[in-house]
Amino acid sequence: MSDDERCEEYLFKIVIIGDSAVGKSNLLTRYARNEFNPNSKATIGVEFQTQSMLIDNKEVKAQIWDTAGQERFRAVTSAYYRGAVGALVVYDITRTSTFENVGRWLDELNTHSDTTVAKMLIGNKCDLESIRAVSIEEGKSLAESQGLFFMETSALDSTNVSTAFEMVIRDIY
Ligand code: GTP
Ligand code: MG
Repeated sequence: MSDDERCEEYLFKIVIIGDSAVGKSNLLTRYARNEFNPNSKATIGVEFQTQSMLIDNKEVKAQIWDTAGQERFRAVTSAYYRGAVGALVVYDITRTSTFENVGRWLDELNTHSDTTVAKMLIGNKCDLESIRAVSIEEGKSLAESQGLFFMETSALDSTNVSTAFEMVIRDIY
């Protein structure tokens, strides 16, 4: 069997973090199953989905982990981050407090993972332009200052959802 024919596989762990109700679970279901739930309940504990993509003709699998934004529903923090090579830090563009808390999520991420983790800041719910509270510029400048990729997304109308995940996955790869 030549090198080209060998079935090579890559599995990457990616974690999604951010305050409760910013849309972490819906970003994941939109990406992995193309589903959106307008009445989704707060996540309790940890869930994950695996999604494959082809890069350079190789199958790359991302195991994407989603946990509760609410402290009381969270699982063991160190176990959640263990082995992660990518992270999406999500805020809600209509709620300033979720943007202000990004620093806390980054601190936690940096405490529990190594510096090589590919990180992306996500401003979700960009479909709600009329009640926007955090500007694109604010998001961009925070991301630049912390060395993160940045993108605004909408799990509701699908804007940039797969682009965001795939950017992180490609960076890891
Ligand atoms: P926790 O599990 O508690 O941490 O919350 P979460 O971050 O997983 O939020 P979730 O995905 O459950 O979404 C919270 C609410 O926001 C739900 O009512 C979703 O339908 C809604 N929502 C999620 N993403 C979007 C979006 O892109 N646009 C709009 N308009 N609503 C969204
Ligand atoms: Mg959730």
